[in-house]
Amino acid sequence: MSTSTVPARRILVTSALPYANGSLHLGHIIEAVQTDIWCRFQRLVGNECLYVCAEDCHGTPIMIRARQDGLTPEALITASAAEHQRDFAGFDIAFDHFHSTHSEENRYWSGELYQRLVARGSIVRRTIRQSYDEQAGMFLPDRFVRGTCPRCGTADQYGDSCENCGATYSPAELKDAVSTVTGTKPVLRDSEHLFFRLGDYEQDLKHWLATNGLQPAVRAKLDEWFKVGLTDWDISRDAPYFGFEIPDAPGKYFYVWFDAPIGYIGSFAALAAKRGLDFDAYWKAGATTELHHFIGKDISYFHTLFWPAVLHGAGLRRPTGVHVHGFLTVNGLKMSKSRGTNITARRYLDILPADHLRYYFAAKLGNGLDDIDLALEDFTARVNSDVVGKLVNIASRCAPFIERSGGALAGALPDPALYDQFAGAADALAAQFEARDYAGAIREIMLLADRANQYVDARKPWVLAKDPARLTEARDVATQAINLFRVLMTYLAPVMPGIAARAAEWLGPDSLAHWNGVRQPLLGITLGKYPLLATRVDPAIVKQLIASPAEAPAAPAKTQEKPVISIHDFAKLDLRAAKVLAASRVEGSDKLLQLTLDLGTEQRNVFSGISASYKPEDLVGRFVVMIANLAPRKMRFGVSEGMVLCASGPKESGEGVFLLSVDSGVTPGMKVS
Ligand code: MSP
Ligand code: ZN
Repeated sequence: MSTSTVPARRILVTSALPYANGSLHLGHIIEAVQTDIWCRFQRLVGNECLYVCAEDCHGTPIMIRARQDGLTPEALITASAAEHQRDFAGFDIAFDHFHSTHSEENRYWSGELYQRLVARGSIVRRTIRQSYDEQAGMFLPDRFVRGTCPRCGTADQYGDSCENCGATYSPAELKDAVSTVTGTKPVLRDSEHLFFRLGDYEQDLKHWLATNGLQPAVRAKLDEWFKVGLTDWDISRDAPYFGFEIPDAPGKYFYVWFDAPIGYIGSFAALAAKRGLDFDAYWKAGATTELHHFIGKDISYFHTLFWPAVLHGAGLRRPTGVHVHGFLTVNGLKMSKSRGTNITARRYLDILPADHLRYYFAAKLGNGLDDIDLALEDFTARVNSDVVGKLVNIASRCAPFIERSGGALAGALPDPALYDQFAGAADALAAQFEARDYAGAIREIMLLADRANQYVDARKPWVLAKDPARLTEARDVATQAINLFRVLMTYLAPVMPGIAARAAEWLGPDSLAHWNGVRQPLLGITLGKYPLLATRVDPAIVKQLIASPAEAPAAPAKTQEKPVISIHDFAKLDLRAAKVLAASRVEGSDKLLQLTLDLGTEQRNVFSGISASYKPEDLVGRFVVMIANLAPRKMRFGVSEGMVLCASGPKESGEGVFLLSVDSGVTPGMKVS
């Protein structure tokens, strides 16, 4: 029998690369947590597992966003990558490397794969007609054209599909289309594009799929796509575009989705250079290492069709697995900024521990594509009852009896058969983690936790310890329970690395480091000081996750100042110069004046709390500054259709309010910026 210490498997893992134009939210985090648990599990069982990711930097939205923020795209992506890495680190996502698609490695590999595809005859050129913004001097992606749906007539729809009736169409079919970049009407223009001949790879793809353990729902989707037929894929975009210029096509750039998955290779290449890894062993066709991608269901077409075909065409290996998860919802609702359900990673980390959410996500993640709901009350109940009430409870109830008997565990277990039941679950649980059925694994682990608690309840070490003659017995019971806890903690180490690290300080540095370590109980060793492993979560704090910023109490240790906003946020305010046409006191209110304001094109009714500082008759005829796009607010006295800007001191200072005014020469409705 071989006693070789060579790892059983060598595995490279990725999760999808987040775009550089927005903060991470809990949807990104559930994907990173799913991936990270799998990687940590692989390392724990002794496999060599590398986890790489990167910032996805290219494309029109990022270029436009940088412009709006008054930044270069490079500055935007640098800031975004730093923020993303900080947030991932906050959730203990253990990347081996986090790179950027706007990097030399990625430029090289994108060019290289492209050349290989050209050499193989997989790239063709064809002229297409597209929406063009003459004022901005650029072609417009479908999402940057809005207009009226040609089918149902709903206004303000995207250029590719209608949110109301679900119709799909091209931007040219929209009625009264406008460019969202400049607000002008787009024209149609011809341009030559480069296409990848996906259809040539149909047989190879079908063969690859047959040998690959894709989830049934993903397979079903692929069958549908095959039936519809695989069409050529446009991999080029015209300047101006933030991306890589195509080597033999000046003024044309790789479409972001061409170079984004190549970013997996780029990130690995950077890691390989750092660690001296053999690139070909991971990427050459026929490589025996494993390659696993974790992604959300919205990007499966790219990962199960384009990507394997591109890899195959370029003489590289294809993925061993593409693992697709569903979407995260919050209290049953899609994540949305306006509903307050778009919880950012930062918001969560500011008020709650990472391990709690990691546990909850694991408890709900199966190997399917169903959406996963973060139900906040359920989250509180689950974490408090499972993590604190069951798991930590085993250790916290028993630790004192070891301390009181000199700090060392007993030399033998009082109930080895019970221990064997716990350790004997290792193989079945490993199979569940391997298959990404974390929910199933957690269910089994919590049943074991119940059994451990029943053992402690039946033996009552706190009763035994009252009798000095039976303190040793209490220690033995505690030794048994702590060993059961240690087995469970080993199984849960990939899920809750923070709690596991604290437990390891107590039980010994190597105590949780190997999945198979559970085969041997911990006996006779002296324990460290018992740490605080986890605390209960307070439902009032959990509620703050979705409180609107105005309702949310300021987090402790934060100043009361408002957050820094981008110029993009500022641009959302429609500030206007308005002329006061009429002003009067409001019956029944000693604060409000009712103003009729002239905005040039329309009149507005606004209630303003300035009655203590201004007489109505002094206001008529003067100009004020108003927010013209504030949602109308129903008040006791009528609807207020905007707000007038004032300066004021703290309420209790009694200093009064001061209307902002504009210099003479202004006309009603002029923009204020
Ligand atoms: N940049 C591309 C991926 C390129 S991979 C070569 C992208 N970025 S993304 O930021 O929009 O999404 C990153 C990942 O987060 C995707 O796998 C996506 O499915 C996932 N999620 C985004 N919102 C999500 C939820 N609400 N729930 C779960 N996952 C979600 O797509
Ligand atoms: Zn429609």
